[in-house]
Amino acid sequence: MCILEDKNLREIDYLRISIIDRCNFKCLYCVDEKRDYEKELNGDYLRVEEIEHIVKLFAKIGVSKIKLTGGEPLMRKDIVSIVRRISKVEGIKKVTLTTNGVLLPNYLEELIKAGLNSVNISLDAIEADKFNYITKQDVLESILTNIKYSAKMIETKINSLIIKEINEDEIIRLVEFAREIRIPIRFIELMPIGCGTGYKPLRQEEIYKVIVDKYGKFTESSESFGNGPARYIKSEENNITIGFISALSECFCSSCNRIRITSAGYLKACLHSRDSLNIRPLLGSIADEQILAIIKNSIYNKPVQHNLLEEVSKETKTMIEIGG
Ligand code: 5AD
Ligand code: SF4
Repeated sequence: MCILEDKNLREIDYLRISIIDRCNFKCLYCVDEKRDYEKELNGDYLRVEEIEHIVKLFAKIGVSKIKLTGGEPLMRKDIVSIVRRISKVEGIKKVTLTTNGVLLPNYLEELIKAGLNSVNISLDAIEADKFNYITKQDVLESILTNIKYSAKMIETKINSLIIKEINEDEIIRLVEFAREIRIPIRFIELMPIGCGTGYKPLRQEEIYKVIVDKYGKFTESSESFGNGPARYIKSEENNITIGFISALSECFCSSCNRIRITSAGYLKACLHSRDSLNIRPLLGSIADEQILAIIKNSIYNKPVQHNLLEEVSKETKTMIEIGG
C-alpha cells in the first residue's frame, strides 16, 4: 500500500472534499450576512466525473477516507451519484458526509445503498430560539427528527459548536439529546477563521467542566469514532460518549492526517494557510502521473502548524467557501 507523507512525516490518508459553497443555513460563525454570496460565487463546482477523477488520483497515493462537505453537500442534486462513484474507487475504505441535516431524509436511503458509511450532523442548540438565532432557520424540530432517523439507519454523530454567551447553556441539553438516541456528540472548538473571528469560543476545558459538574467523572476512551483528531471521553453508567475537537486547546497539527479540496477544485494542504493549488485545469490535460507529482509536492510542503493561539487564521475566506 502506498503511504503519502509530508516533510514532517505526517501520514495523509484523509481527504475532505467540499462539493458546493452554498448552504441553506446561514450560521453566524460560517456565513457573512453582509456579503452577497449568490453574486460573488460562480457556482462552477467540480463535476461528478472530476470528483471521481480526483478521488482516483488520491487513492493511488494513499488516501483511503473521504469526507464530503460544503456548504451543504445535500444541496447537490447529484449527491447520490457522487457517493456511488467515489465509494467504488479502489483503495477507498470510507466515504462520509457532514451535513446540517435538513435535506437528509430525501437522500439517506439512496446514499446508504450508494456506499455511504457515516454521517455527521451539525447541531448547536436544542432550544428553538437559540437554534434559529444561530442558523437563521426555523427548522429545529425537523432537524431533531432527521437526526433520530439517521441514527437508526447509519452511523451518526452530532457536531456541536459552543460560542461564549450565545449557546453555552445548550451543552447539557445537547448531551442529553445525544444520550437519548445513543450516538456520540463532539464539541468542536470555534476557530478564529472567517466569521468565527467575530465570536469567542467556549474552550474545551470550560465545556468539559460543565459536563463533569453534571454527570461526574468520565474515562478517557481510546476508541475512535471518526477519521480525525477527536479525543473521546465516556461514561458507561450514563451511557454517554463525548468527543472534543479542539484546534486551540489541543493543537493537533502534529498528527494532522487531512487535506482538503474546495468546491472549485483547489487543493489545500492546510485549512489555515492561504496556499492552494488549482488542480482542476490539470485533470485530463496532463498525464495522471504528472498530476500526482504536483499534488505530492504540494502535500510534502504542508505547513507545520497553525498559530491560532496568537493570531487569527491566515486564511481569509469564510468556512462556507473553503469547506467545513
Ligand atoms: N470554527 C470551527 N468549526 C467551524 N465550522 C464552521 N465554521 C467554523 C469555525 N469558525 C464547522 C462546524 C460546522 C461545520 C459546517 O463547519 O463544525 O458545524
Ligand atoms: Fe451551512 Fe454548516 Fe455553514 Fe451552518 S455551519 S451555514 S450549516 S455550512
